[in-house]
Amino acid sequence: MTISQKVKLIMEESSWVRKMFETASQLKVEYGEENIFDFTLGNPVEEPPPGFKEALKEFALNPIPGMHRYMPNSGYAETRRFIAQQLSQDTGLPFTEDHIVMTIGAAGGMNIALKALIDQGDEVIVPSPYFVEFQFYIDNHGGVMRLVDTREDFSIDLEAIERTITEKTKVVLINSPNNPTGVVYSEDLIRDLADLLRAKSRKRRNPIYLLADEAYKTIIYDGFPLPNILEIYKPSISVNSYSKSLGVPGERVGYVAVNPSFPEVEEVMGALVFLNRTLGYINAPALMQRLIPLAGENHVGPKEYQEKRDLLYQALIEYGYSVVKPQGAFYMFPQSPIEDDLAFVSDLQQSFRILTVPGRGFGKKGYFRISYCVDMEVIEQALPSFAEAAKKYGLH
Ligand SMILES: Cc1ncc(COP(=O)(O)O)c(C=O)c1O
Repeated sequence: MTISQKVKLIMEESSWVRKMFETASQLKVEYGEENIFDFTLGNPVEEPPPGFKEALKEFALNPIPGMHRYMPNSGYAETRRFIAQQLSQDTGLPFTEDHIVMTIGAAGGMNIALKALIDQGDEVIVPSPYFVEFQFYIDNHGGVMRLVDTREDFSIDLEAIERTITEKTKVVLINSPNNPTGVVYSEDLIRDLADLLRAKSRKRRNPIYLLADEAYKTIIYDGFPLPNILEIYKPSISVNSYSKSLGVPGERVGYVAVNPSFPEVEEVMGALVFLNRTLGYINAPALMQRLIPLAGENHVGPKEYQEKRDLLYQALIEYGYSVVKPQGAFYMFPQSPIEDDLAFVSDLQQSFRILTVPGRGFGKKGYFRISYCVDMEVIEQALPSFAEAAKKYGLH
């Protein structure tokens, strides 16, 4: 035995997404890629927006002296200023570059934010179903995750959150637009959550922080308004990513923004920047940071994703699946027609060559996740198989 017992156990139990992805790879070899409908990974197929490649070429042909060197751990001031301007416009809050730290995607952002906030044993409340990596990020920094079931429409159950808050609660972590459900929390819901957290925080020395994973912020459908969490609740931190908005998850760039009107903003920012360095990230990739202001307001989607959502959602409803209509991101979380989501997902795989992820991989048995950031043809070709599966399981 060479590796830690804890890590070994976690690895054995973790990541249904990865397990399904590995099965998918095997099946593709066995049956040919075109005969497998792979809806397992949230890996965007859309290329980055226009101008991205040209800007890359420009940097290669006319490099700026020193552009590959170390930089301040918070990232380039110019990039942070650009983001601050965007956030000020969106929220009306006085953001400057001092309220932004550039990170290694949202994943890096979540890790520095959680480490900055929690002491050993502090509790982090997470509405479930949830993006399963959260449990590891929280555990990385000695926190204890407290899952709270959402309502049937996957909105946050405030009474359940209230019942779960204890003296040890330090953070409520929300993710909207949501992975795996595609749900976007309404402004009323966020305001009510903020009221609850304010009331609970009043009785204690430290506030309860609201940590918002907004990695899918730009992928919202039907003009649904995404509430400005930073504007609504002062002790709030927003974690963002360009992985999905620019279609560059392999390039690892995102940022964390802290509410400028929060009295302890300086202390929190100091911790985030320090941790960016000491967790070993040092800084987010330099070239990607330089490209962000050049990309401006351009991003991938949401039009393309909305078309895919529409096609898939309409068809699944027609075939008799029970699905909450996604308002953002590129995931759908239908109910499994049988209680055992693992058995259903396995049968989808074996009998219909449709690859999805069982709900238990997101803390909710009896459901399955479809990631529809795939080519339109994959959805079109998979629909008859979804229909066959519905028939087999007696859906109408
Ligand atoms: C909810 C959520 N948060 C964070 C991440 C990580 O994103 P990034 O590539 O920016 O690290 C993902 C990736 O799929 C995600 O779904």
